[in-house]
Amino acid sequence: MSPTQKKPTPGLETPSDAPGQVVFRESPIHGTGAAALGCIPAGTRILEYLGRKITKAEASVQCDLGNPYIFEFDEVYDLDGDVGWNPARWLNHSCGPNCESLLEEGRIWIVTLREIQSGEELTFNYGYSLNDFKEHPCHCGSAECVGYIVDEEFFAELRGIAGPSQPPR
Ligand SMILES: C[S@@+](CC[C@H](N)C(=O)[O-])C[C@H]1O[C@@H](n2cnc3c(N)ncnc32)[C@H](O)[C@@H]1O
Ligand SMILES: [Zn+2]
Repeated sequence: MSPTQKKPTPGLETPSDAPGQVVFRESPIHGTGAAALGCIPAGTRILEYLGRKITKAEASVQCDLGNPYIFEFDEVYDLDGDVGWNPARWLNHSCGPNCESLLEEGRIWIVTLREIQSGEELTFNYGYSLNDFKEHPCHCGSAECVGYIVDEEFFAELRGIAGPSQPPR
């Protein structure tokens, strides 16, 4: 399973970033996460998701090997973000995210959805399908959490299946 990206938001034509405003540290959600070092405005490109462009076949092999940093790029290619020069690989998923991923002119950006306060963990929705959703329990802790890492389009369905309870850690 790999994160997917949305279509670009109209009006976000010029890439921008937030150099030095993101720190990578232990996360209450999972392992290492990313957090804001200062107040970051809505609509800021905080990081680019970088990696090796690989075929779907290679991505499938990597996923089977347990590589959690494969990012769905387009119909043909995925990105293997498991490289030291891709700090965006540390961002965790949330069911109530404060960022989103956007594909624009062949580059994937992590963009803030709202103003973010210093210290807040930076998250986006990985956009997973319902395939094998029980293998991906979510510990985001947000009020919107549906208990599993899935795209927002499946929240209603999942709430019907799983109810409001949290999955076991
Ligand atoms: C791209 S990595 C994110 C960085 C990760 N925290 C780390 O330290 O490697 C994705 C993996 O992090 C974990 N993860 C991310 N968001 C999560 C969440 N909301 N709940 C539980 N695990 C999560 C899952 O194991 C997932 O396969
Ligand atoms: Zn969640």
